[in-house]
Amino acid sequence: MPVQKQAEIAPAKGKLGVLLVGLGAVSTTFIAGVEAIKKGIAEPIGSLTQMGTVRLGKRTDNRVPLIKDFVPLAKLEDLVFGAWDIFPDSAFEAATHAGVLEKDLLAQIRTPLQKIKPMKAVFDQSYVKRLQGTNVKEGKNKLELAEQLIAEIADWKKKNKVSRVVMIWAASTEIFLKPHAVHKTLDTFEKAMRENHKAIAPSMIYAYAALKSGIPFANGAPNLTVDIPALRTLAEKNRLPICGKDFKTGQTLMKTIIAPGLKSRMLGLHGWYSTNILGNRDGEVLDDPDSFKTKEESKLSVLEYILQPDVYPALYKDFSHVVRINYYPPRGDNKEGWDNIDIFGWLGYQMQIKIDFLCRDSILAAPIVLDLALFLDLAQRTGMRGIQEWLSFYFKSPQTAPGLYPEHDIFIQLMKLKNTLRHLRGEDLITHLGLEYYD
Ligand SMILES: NC(=O)c1ccc[n+]([C@@H]2O[C@H](COP(=O)([O-])OP(=O)(O)OC[C@H]3O[C@@H](n4cnc5c(N)ncnc54)[C@H](O)[C@@H]3O)[C@@H](O)[C@H]2O)c1
Repeated sequence: MPVQKQAEIAPAKGKLGVLLVGLGAVSTTFIAGVEAIKKGIAEPIGSLTQMGTVRLGKRTDNRVPLIKDFVPLAKLEDLVFGAWDIFPDSAFEAATHAGVLEKDLLAQIRTPLQKIKPMKAVFDQSYVKRLQGTNVKEGKNKLELAEQLIAEIADWKKKNKVSRVVMIWAASTEIFLKPHAVHKTLDTFEKAMRENHKAIAPSMIYAYAALKSGIPFANGAPNLTVDIPALRTLAEKNRLPICGKDFKTGQTLMKTIIAPGLKSRMLGLHGWYSTNILGNRDGEVLDDPDSFKTKEESKLSVLEYILQPDVYPALYKDFSHVVRINYYPPRGDNKEGWDNIDIFGWLGYQMQIKIDFLCRDSILAAPIVLDLALFLDLAQRTGMRGIQEWLSFYFKSPQTAPGLYPEHDIFIQLMKLKNTLRHLRGEDLITHLGLEYYD
């Protein structure tokens, strides 16, 4: 990833293909949103690339361009969407089924959504137990399935006349997999694909196909996927950016906003109990204990890293952290997340914070997909390769260099992201020291 200050950035010429694995609630809310914004009937709320600014120089300089004017990003008009799913429904049908967006809004963008028909998926029910679909590829072994994907991507690129492509995993959460010896090198990984080894999940086959095709990859679910040495090495070798994992929305977003605040004031924590009800397909998949385990691992690590119990034992040693997800169909995509936070202050006196977040999962996730697509493409044009830690801002479980602990504090993550953009453009980094104003 090391990249020079004021790096040369190739212009965002031509069309950018955004290939989505999974055409469910998140993907369709993202695509429908972009179409609605292009039509001028909605605003890109929640998207840093579209609405965010970056301060340059001193506070008195009044230089605060929009991020999209500061770095050369692909334009929304230049995005072309493609997807894979195990169900053959078009993006319009899938969006209608997901029930996130109102029918009136969908009716206005029906034509472009209907044109997006998912390609046949690489799928194996042993990795997502609650799903069964018909739109699925067949192949002799996992390597052959990857080769089918590679050929299909090349064909899609040509047909859609795109000059660059990024791939984002927005498909269901797979069962919990631990790193395995076959994940170590590209050779062992390819051999394992040929032998249909069970340590190779479908998400890894897509990631492999992307990296073999010269395409950056982002992982929006908590699956292991690209977070294994074989695929990290492939990304480095082919000079491609990768990032993951698990879009930071809902309850974890709130956690990484609130926990840094409590810690900044040296308030202690006895426990944080989080529970959710949701009724979309994601909720149904996560109702399976093996898929939930993958999600749980991703959600639990956040507080440990932010609060640093080893550094602050008097405040955070042995706090209890429980996360539950309950599948409750009447709620659909409109999740309700409750948090009970038991904190303590001066002289150990106890207090409680209760949060009841009536959130909409896919409404929070869609702008993340947009930003990741645009930033990954920017990274690619800048020659940034391997793990993109500056994109931690978007993830529950940010991918970092091996041995390096992830930064979860959302404010530090944002500073890191904006400082990366300043670095790329040769601007001074902002430290917030500010002594010069008082000279
Ligand atoms: N919505 C959020 O706020 C949020 C936040 C973080 C992570 N995520 C993750 O993003 C993913 C998508 O969420 P969603 O709400 O859109 O779920 P969803 O169930 O609506 O959509 C997922 C789609 O992926 C398809 N799919 C499953 N396996 C596939 C495969 N191997 N190849 C192609 N398609 C496949 C399913 O058929 C489904 O249509 C989930 O893994 C979820 O955990 C979502």
